[in-house]
Amino acid sequence: MKKILMIVASFRKNSFNRQLAEAVGELFRGKAEVKILEYGDVPLFNQDMEFPTPEAVGRVREEVLSSDGIWIFSPEYNSKTPGVLKNLLDWLSRPVTETAGSRESAVRGKCVTVSSVAGKSAGAGVRKDLSELLSKMSMNVVYGEGCGIALGSDAFSTGKMDLSEEEINMFRAQAEELLRAAGQMI
Ligand SMILES: Cc1cc2nc3c(=O)[nH]c(=O)nc-3n(C[C@H](O)[C@H](O)[C@H](O)COP(=O)(O)O)c2cc1C
Repeated sequence: MKKILMIVASFRKNSFNRQLAEAVGELFRGKAEVKILEYGDVPLFNQDMEFPTPEAVGRVREEVLSSDGIWIFSPEYNSKTPGVLKNLLDWLSRPVTETAGSRESAVRGKCVTVSSVAGKSAGAGVRKDLSELLSKMSMNVVYGEGCGIALGSDAFSTGKMDLSEEEINMFRAQAEELLRAAGQMI
């Protein structure tokens, strides 16, 4: 079974993006193994600290290397990518060993797709920003700028997000595209 690694770009306890990642995870049931990456212990990137590789960085690299595809769920901060995710991606864009060539990263060539739960924009800004950034990191960006959800005021007041049938189908199509790109027959 293929392995899908989900990366949520919000550490908020009731994160809507995490709620979406969990709901999307259900769509893979029986089709792929899904795991949400925990990376709150990854240090702020500092080139002086790259080698020896910090333990948390080594662990997230291993999780990325052993996955067949990655799905990023990100809020939109000021129309762009939140700092916690940019920090993780900067680490992941770097060579895995001191002697490796500058292009030998854990993410090079890996399939990746993006989604966002945000305000009115449905995360159009962050999804565009991320698809450009991930392409720059030589990742295989699947499903273009991905799908987004524009939260209504009711979700902000209850802290809970309910997905419509139409939204579930939208993410199902994205999931199938990711699995296909990862080499799984649908
Ligand atoms: C610093 C900051 C900047 C934000 N900027 C935007 C923005 O540019 N566009 C938007 O739609 N939402 C913006 N938001 C709202 C978040 O995208 C929204 O609250 C999202 O649901 C947070 O994701 P989470 O629930 O997964 O933490 C911003 C929120 C914060 C904290």
